[in-house]
Amino acid sequence: MKKNIESILTESRSFPPSDSFTAAARLKPVDLDALYKQAETDYEGFWAERAQEELHWATPFSKTLDESNAPNYAWFTDGQLNVSENCLDVHIAEHGNKPAIIFEGEQGDRKTLSYSELLTEVSRFANALKAQGIEAGDRVVIYMPMTPEAVIAMQACARIGAVHSVVFGGFSANALRDRIIDAAAKMVITADGAHRGGSIVELKQATDTALSDACDSIERVIVLKCTGHEISMTAGRDIWWQDAIADQADICMPGPVAAEHPLFLLYTSGSTGKPKGVQHASAGYLLHAKLTSKWVFDLNDQDVFWCTADVGWITGHTYVAYGPLAAGATIVIYEGAPTYPDAGRFWKICQELGVTIFYTAPTAIRALMKFGDDVPNAYDLSKIRLLGTVGEPINPEAWMWYHRVIGQERCPIVDTWWQTETGGAMMAPIPGVTATKPGSCTRPLPGIAADIVDEEGAPIKGDDAGGYLVITKPWPAMLRTIWGDNKRYIETYWQKFQNRYYVAGDSAHRDGDGCYWIMGRIDDVVNVSGHRLGTMEVESALVAHKRVVEAAVVSRPHDIKGESIFAYVVFQGDRPTGDEAEQLTKELRNWVADQVGAIAKPDDIRFTDNLPKTRSGKIMRRLLRAIARDEEITQDTSTLENEAILDQLRGKA
Ligand code: WT7
Repeated sequence: MKKNIESILTESRSFPPSDSFTAAARLKPVDLDALYKQAETDYEGFWAERAQEELHWATPFSKTLDESNAPNYAWFTDGQLNVSENCLDVHIAEHGNKPAIIFEGEQGDRKTLSYSELLTEVSRFANALKAQGIEAGDRVVIYMPMTPEAVIAMQACARIGAVHSVVFGGFSANALRDRIIDAAAKMVITADGAHRGGSIVELKQATDTALSDACDSIERVIVLKCTGHEISMTAGRDIWWQDAIADQADICMPGPVAAEHPLFLLYTSGSTGKPKGVQHASAGYLLHAKLTSKWVFDLNDQDVFWCTADVGWITGHTYVAYGPLAAGATIVIYEGAPTYPDAGRFWKICQELGVTIFYTAPTAIRALMKFGDDVPNAYDLSKIRLLGTVGEPINPEAWMWYHRVIGQERCPIVDTWWQTETGGAMMAPIPGVTATKPGSCTRPLPGIAADIVDEEGAPIKGDDAGGYLVITKPWPAMLRTIWGDNKRYIETYWQKFQNRYYVAGDSAHRDGDGCYWIMGRIDDVVNVSGHRLGTMEVESALVAHKRVVEAAVVSRPHDIKGESIFAYVVFQGDRPTGDEAEQLTKELRNWVADQVGAIAKPDDIRFTDNLPKTRSGKIMRRLLRAIARDEEITQDTSTLENEAILDQLRGKA
């Protein structure tokens, strides 16, 4: 990124909220102004006041922000609280009978848990964890289907101060094993299987495979019966969920932990090496999760909130398992695929469960848009009053469809920019206040200091500023470190600008109204269906195949997934062509699915005799990207040892 990034996007439509939406909204223009003013004049005071208002403290804090180990910042350090108590116990007196979770399985089965019932389930399971030897600080891996029990397991860990690490159920045994080993987890909580698109995902089988290989830290596996199909249980190690809770008491007193006590690890992709265990702290994270649930989603007592994300991703942590519960809302959890048994499933759920706020990813919107307006039009979506998106930039066409067909031109759309590392939404419209623009996440929230800087770290002023997106002040929900690798934490997020700013790794520009437009990642990361995958990870998976010598992975735009993976592969021996190449392509795609997970399968694989490299031996990724995208080549290719390679890379030889 030599010169500042220029944007070619010119989108000038603007959609202010309706007067009636604003009249009923939690935050009005004056409230938002006051919040911005306070955050600007007294940053620490602003956060201290929010933390006192929103959270129930077992021991109040006296210190707000500790900068003594910057950039390892700490918040509310001498305070103590319990996250699960703040999500459950605090609601019982007034809202004990209010539905906390409305669950629908892929097969159509339903279950509702009130706040009281959820508290009981969480308490029993927390007691079961203790009975199985789990103590505060122990790491527990959760590898489960999208069911209430996944949330119960997370909340139960929080209740006893255990640190959960949720691994997305779509990840393979290999990915699971790496995460177990990195965290030295003591326990895995899983299920016999998950329903997905009409078939069964073999979670227990994958767990067994993972555990057969160097996962010595694991002492126990708790298995939820979900699909009911036959699986094998290892005596002395595995125990059924039902048996684990059978003799447990309904009450488990929430144990206060220090504000900075780690609440969870969540592994995410980086541009190099293995996935990073992003570590979040208890109090700061919960504060942001609760506040943004209220500010951005305008949650009120009658709302039925559906965030479609799986708990395996940060969105499913912050806006399923923690934020909306802390705010006392009713949430919907759906187990299965959006298109099962047909493309109307999401809209059918919205109609039947009375969803009022719907939050999903652009990739899902684009996929469902393809089926045409008639599908959603067949359902009554009149209860929906607010829509949200997250995960990647939304293209204006998908935005307009979402606005017109799902929101029926009545619902504000909150486009929320954030990351696994930021813990919660950082930039987003406030629905009763902000005029939205298709494709922009609008402005930083109160208490969040974002900016755009150039290569030297100097803020870029003026209209249409484009460059590196940075956060210029620490915030309560920021990641605390990378588990077991603080050096990597500093290198990845802080070093570029001498520890002055948190570097998000996205490029962005800001328009004349001060609205931000995210332009994409600046590192070697692919955003497939709203999820970050490191190109390095896919490359390592490819070269782990016994016949692959070298591989380079780049992204190219994809209609539905946003980006898809394009791999250049150097094979041992003669370059495969024709039928052999086709056969090997299949084999390699399955191989990657096996090593990393189906989400990482390359859409395209091109075999080549060698990869284009610079004199210093670096793979010319920009060139490979241009070729994958059918763009004109602007790089100097004269230094290539073998210019004929260009035709191979283009797939023309
Ligand atoms: C990356 C973070 C945050 C939960 C889901 C993904 C991209 C995220 C937006 C948005 C444009 C977005 C960024 C970011 N991203 N939200 N509203 N507009 N881009 O979490 O896997 O940690 O990925 O997703 O590139 O850095 P993640």
